[in-house]
Amino acid sequence: MTSPYIKKDNDSVSDDVVWHNTTVTHQDRLKLKQQKPVVLWFTGLSGSGKSTVANAVESKLLSLGKHSYLLDGDNVRHGLNKDLGFSDVDRVENIRRIGEVAKLFVDSGAIVLTAFISPFISDRAQARELMAEGQFLEVFVDTPLEVCEQRDPKGLYKKARAGEIKNFTGIDSAYEAPVKPEIHLETAGKSIEQCAEQVVSELASMGYLNLDDSLSREDADHAL
Ligand code: ADX
Repeated sequence: MTSPYIKKDNDSVSDDVVWHNTTVTHQDRLKLKQQKPVVLWFTGLSGSGKSTVANAVESKLLSLGKHSYLLDGDNVRHGLNKDLGFSDVDRVENIRRIGEVAKLFVDSGAIVLTAFISPFISDRAQARELMAEGQFLEVFVDTPLEVCEQRDPKGLYKKARAGEIKNFTGIDSAYEAPVKPEIHLETAGKSIEQCAEQVVSELASMGYLNLDDSLSREDADHAL
């Protein structure tokens, strides 16, 4: 494969840095994994349920025998992105790096789940552009601000209202909702399980999963 990147005028990549093709290819890995790699890009307010639903979806993928990897906002900010805060500039860089990491995982053949607020439309569009056609699905975890604020699992909304945290999404920093997400989870009145089921069944109807796999996998487990 030649480089998937198109060099732009303002890129800082030196001309002396040359793309190397790998001996084992994406196609080789796909053959081994027998699955369709894709990024499920969860977006929504803090406390909307992104991580919880993404975890429940990942468990379902595991039981279908799928190789996946979940990149979670709070976790990634402990390591790879620990140098970033919550200014607009840092959030843009946060999402840019996650897009690139997701791309690597997709190249490895995995189904990638990302759970970041990712508040800006343009950043999500840029992450989408990094992937091949059909390898990026936006999952809007649509939980109203009032509900997130009432849940306030980490007590952060309370702190933001008290002015103890600045630039808090939904309070004094914008959240730009997706216009046409591939999967729209209206979480009000739904359980985590129902939300996860919706994602899995929409993935199946879009041709990313074959739910019959679960039966053959259960058979295989019984045979062990
Ligand atoms: S993003 O906007 O850059 O995509 P990200 O998903 O990585 O955000 O991190 C969001 C998590 O960081 C929230 O769930 C919350 O726990 C924590 N957090 C701390 N400060 C803020 C803030 N100012 N705005 C939003 N989330 C914050």
